[in-house]
Parts: sequence; structure tokens; C-alpha cells
Amino acid sequence: MDMLLKLNDVGLIYKTDNSSINVLQDISFVLKYKQTLAIIGESGSGKTSLIMLIGGLERNTSGKIYFLNHELSNLNEDKISEIRKKNIGIVFQSFYLVPNYTALENVCLTLEINRIKNPIKKGKEILDRFGLSKRLTHYPSQLSGGEQQRVAIARSVVMKPKLILADEPTGNLDSENSEIISNMLFEYVNEESASLILVTHDQNLAKRTQKIIKIKDGTIVK
Ligand SMILES: Nc1ncnc2c1ncn2[C@@H]1O[C@H](COP(=O)(O)OP(=O)(O)OP(=O)(O)O)[C@@H](O)[C@H]1O
Ligand SMILES: [Mg+2]
Repeated sequence: MDMLLKLNDVGLIYKTDNSSINVLQDISFVLKYKQTLAIIGESGSGKTSLIMLIGGLERNTSGKIYFLNHELSNLNEDKISEIRKKNIGIVFQSFYLVPNYTALENVCLTLEINRIKNPIKKGKEILDRFGLSKRLTHYPSQLSGGEQQRVAIARSVVMKPKLILADEPTGNLDSENSEIISNMLFEYVNEESASLILVTHDQNLAKRTQKIIKIKDGTIVK
């Protein structure tokens, strides 16, 4: 079985007080182990919403999402978050580091939540891998944007997830840093045989993945 993730006619409707917004409809695709996929599409087309569904941070309102051997809508929040913690690493456009934690503490936090032994050693190792061994004790405000994103990626992969979800990981970076970050991300994915779903506006970045899905108004058009 080489299928990691499968979406079958997935839909998402956001209900507000007196209206409902149809954000995603009829989304179906398969992601295999070690496969890399880019999701492209205009602003507001539903890319981040899709990432949230796959990461189990939001619940689909129709269709089915299979991840590993689970169908997500059959699971309660605790079970979903347990599966996510072990198997999925999420990177956002705006880093979301804990401001009063150093680079090392930000990474170690994830390890400690998961009760992993020797968090400091493992945290240092992964930060070293992302070229940050001289930035361990820096706070996010003392790091450049590119460095902050590298800490965020290090944190998202420190549990060795099978699936990495990256929502415009280079969206807030200049072209030089975008290049560095994407190289590091793809290198990591290759070395660890992880699967990657990458949301991006950058055509050149999208071309580096094995498969591209284009979303328009909440539906796959290509
Ligand atoms: N919590 C929410 N409640 C209601 N509507 C929402 C919510 N989150 C997103 N939406 C709506 O869902 C649609 C898709 O949003 P989404 O953030 O997924 O787009 P996107 O493709 O990631 O856009 P961008 O490229 O700008 O990041 C938008 O119309 C947005 O207003
Ligand atoms: Mg988005």
C-alpha cells in the first residue's frame, strides 16, 4: 500500500451566523508515500482551507479524508491531534514561533510535548541541519525572516513526520531566502523520504514538485 493520503469528494462549508460560505467542493486526489505535490490557485481559492482539513485542524463538511489507515471524520479531536503530532509537520507563511522562546526552545517545545528523550540534543541536531547552529539562543525577534522560517521548518520536521504541509513557506521572504529555504525543504524531504504538500504562488517552486493541483473557487481545475 503506497498511498499516504486520499481525498474523496471533500467539501468544506463555513457557517456564520446567518449565511454559509462554500469554500471547497468535490476535492479528490491521492498522495503517495514520498510524493511531492504543489497546490496553486488565486488568493481566496481555498488553498489554506485545504491544508487545514488535511492537517486535521479543520473538519470537512462532506466527503472523506483518509490518512494512513484512518478516515479522519471517524476520529475525535484527541485522536486526530495524536495522529497529527506523530505524522504531520505544518509550516505556515508567517512562521508562528513562540516569541519569548529561543530558537532551540521553540524546537524543543515540540519534542517535550511529545515526551521525546534528549530534546536538547535532538533540537540542536535539527537546527544544525538547517544551518542554525550559531543561532540557538536567539529569540525570534533577533532572527531574520529566513532564519525564522528555518526554525519553523526545523520545528515542524523534528518529529520526522511522514507528511509535511507547507502553506506558502516562502511567501514572506525575498528571492534569495526563498531559494535557500526551498532548497533546504526539498533536500530534507528527499533525504527523509517524506511526502510534501506545498501551497505556493511561485511557479518555479511549484515546478519542483512531482504533481501540481490548481484550485479555483474551491474546486480542482487542473
Ligand atoms: N474561518 C472562516 N470562516 C469563514 N470563511 C472563511 C474562513 N476561513 C477562510 N474563509 C473563506 O474561505 C475562502 C478561502 O480561504 P483560504 O484562506 O483557504 O484561501 P487561500 O487560497 O489560502 O488564499 P490566499 O492565497 O490569500 O492565502 C475565502 O473566501 C475566505 O474568506
Ligand atoms: Mg492561504
